[in-house]
Amino acid sequence: MKILVIGGGGREHALVWKLAQSAHVTRMWCAPGNAGIADERLARNHAPVECVPTGAEDLEGLLAFAREQRPDLTVVGPDNPLALGVVDQFAAEGLRAWGPTQQAARFESSKAFAQEFMERHHIPAPKGGVFTDARAASRFAATFGGRCAVKADGLALGKGVLICRDMAQADSAIEDLLVNRTLGPAGARIVIQELLEGTEVSLHALCDGRTAKLFPTSQDHKRARDQDQGPNTGGMGTYSPTPFLTDAHLGMAYRDILEPWLRGCAAEGIDFRGLLYPGLMLTKDGPKVLEFNARFGDPETQVYLPRLENDLAELLEASATGQLGPLVLRWRDVASVCVVMASAGYPGPYAKGKLITGLVEAARLPNVKVFHAGTHRAADGVVTSGGRVLGVTAWAADLRQAREAAYAAVECIRFEGAHYRRDIGHKALRNPGP
Ligand code: AMP
Ligand code: GLY
Repeated sequence: MKILVIGGGGREHALVWKLAQSAHVTRMWCAPGNAGIADERLARNHAPVECVPTGAEDLEGLLAFAREQRPDLTVVGPDNPLALGVVDQFAAEGLRAWGPTQQAARFESSKAFAQEFMERHHIPAPKGGVFTDARAASRFAATFGGRCAVKADGLALGKGVLICRDMAQADSAIEDLLVNRTLGPAGARIVIQELLEGTEVSLHALCDGRTAKLFPTSQDHKRARDQDQGPNTGGMGTYSPTPFLTDAHLGMAYRDILEPWLRGCAAEGIDFRGLLYPGLMLTKDGPKVLEFNARFGDPETQVYLPRLENDLAELLEASATGQLGPLVLRWRDVASVCVVMASAGYPGPYAKGKLITGLVEAARLPNVKVFHAGTHRAADGVVTSGGRVLGVTAWAADLRQAREAAYAAVECIRFEGAHYRRDIGHKALRNPGP
């Protein structure tokens, strides 16, 4: 089986690493990939994974490559190519791509669609409304006393959610998006939700249009600095499983969220084949969906895949072809932790091209995998090329040991200005669950 993976971040390195272990995979490309991805080899024949210099949003370039090489399966990592319709365009040329179609990817690409879908199908969600008119939006925000989340409808590189605690903040957020169009057309429509309090966790479910197979739980750390201080980021670290959503609660989450979601998809003719990633808030009234993503989480993928026992190529193929039903996902009974090492300044502007040392030493540690996110191979070695640079991941019998192993690996690695959180998984150790 020949596989093309689209993307070049930490999530895609984890996908490539796991797919490379498959007994079925004989050739693999990654567009555009990164320095860590280029170092992976296939278990089946030791062939190197080949990085292709085509960006994840260059649909023309990706199609041209796929027409020539005819991959048996193309695995789409990031949200943007899905929202642009990459899966539809591949299908139109007889090429199988794993991921939702443009229509199905609206769960992530349109927050207005997701909010209204949840209301139509009674999926527990914050109270919310969809607006194009600033005055109507402001009146609605006032019903929550201004304590609300103001969200741009479209994709906005993680900058589309503004958390407001009073009317002055809410009005300024509404004005920025709807009137000043600070996020362009992504903010031409907005969603306003009541502000929920609680603990956030991530769910992942692999879907094939009819069935959804739930993963164990994980928890991301979105703020840049320890103790959830600093600005929001793409995610500074994850661990799995999280004690905040026990197996019993996971069954309830399936019944209350995934089942109505599946019924809603069937009723509306949405054939969702791919990964559904609901972001949940655990409130005192039960779990509620803050948002849907239509792809693997980053850095959730980095903690899930080391725990997955199944052959990932088999799972994604079954997901793409509607044959997940009889398959059982099997998970190793270990805890895993991923600590993201980021460039100085991230999530703001940052410099690139800083030499990274210690990767070889870290790789020698047992039960550790350093996933590359923003790296590039230069003449003198591996250098930084993104905001999130590495996802240093380890697994062990329990969370405490997995944390120790991940931070021991982090200690080996140096690059100028590197910053990372020291408290990934702390919450779970401090408070072992409900
Ligand atoms: P989203 O991209 O919609 O998940 O929003 C990004 C972050 O904003 C989430 O991870 C939450 O921390 C926060 N957030 C979004 N919606 C709400 C809400 N209704 N109540 C409280 N926090 C929220
Ligand atoms: N873990 C955050 C994201 O993938 O959106």
